[in-house]
Amino acid sequence: MGFTPTETIWFNGKLVPWNDAKVHVLAHGLQYGTGVFEGMKSYPTADGPAIFRLDAHLERFYKSAELYDLAIPYPQAAIADASLEVVRVNRLEASYLRPVAFFDAGTLSVWTAECPVTVAIAAVPTGKYLANADAGVRVTVSPIRKFDNSAIPAWAKACGQYINSARAVNDAQRRGFDEALLLNSQGLVAEGSGENLFVVKNGGVITNDKDASILMGVTRASVLEIAKDLGIEATVAPISVEDVLGADELFFTGTAVEVTAIREVDGRVMSGGQPGPITRRIQATFNQAVRGQLPQYRKWLSFVNQEVRA
Ligand SMILES: Cc1ncc(COP(=O)(O)O)c(C=O)c1O
Repeated sequence: MGFTPTETIWFNGKLVPWNDAKVHVLAHGLQYGTGVFEGMKSYPTADGPAIFRLDAHLERFYKSAELYDLAIPYPQAAIADASLEVVRVNRLEASYLRPVAFFDAGTLSVWTAECPVTVAIAAVPTGKYLANADAGVRVTVSPIRKFDNSAIPAWAKACGQYINSARAVNDAQRRGFDEALLLNSQGLVAEGSGENLFVVKNGGVITNDKDASILMGVTRASVLEIAKDLGIEATVAPISVEDVLGADELFFTGTAVEVTAIREVDGRVMSGGQPGPITRRIQATFNQAVRGQLPQYRKWLSFVNQEVRA
């Protein structure tokens, strides 16, 4: 997913030109990965662009920050307004937003007490995250394990923890797959490098939980709610490799991939090599919900044009 630059980035409380949103090479967040971030999307709707689940994303942003003693020097409402403003001023419709807050340059010590905090929000037009996403992606069970919650709580979205994801997806792509499935320290399935996993079995969906060392995805929570609304049984339980290989269908959820079918696991063809019926039903509902086409899910939208009410 390369990106197309936009005009302005929100940077420490001000809108600055794209090229001026720069940080020092000794930023603690660069040296040690001590930052937190979010990935969220705006979608076009009949009432103009809207950010999907802005509040849920920002709640996670602040919780992630708290875990790392990072005090975001703005209230959540200000970051919400700034996110909407970045979409508005750049005249974006379908966009990917990247709020980030990190310890900036101030010390070369590992502890962070002397570091100022920098906060930025960039937005770029949305591109496709994984190649072949429409037809379903090909995954491999990664030899690289997901870090354990006891070392780094996986529910927090911290910058440094993505070196684990980057290693796993790079390895998978080097071996010709689209994405990696990471096992946790117990040998159970955790998640993709940037997605949560759903197994479809006997007409119901199963996904794992916090205990499996996963990021608690906003899309995951939305899909669990959508599944229930569609009358599809939704279970939260650990997932083993055997569950994955014996699934009727498999799909990933995430802001970047939305709902994406998995059509192959290590060469084993799943659901006839194409998105299965349950995946397609959930995907269709999700795709309508994010675009404001289903009244019951408008509560999930924050409209950029603030006169529009959900
Ligand atoms: C490791 C990981 N798991 C799951 C997800 C999905 O989370 P969400 O649906 O909140 O985007 C992401 C993406 O943010 C991720 O990076």
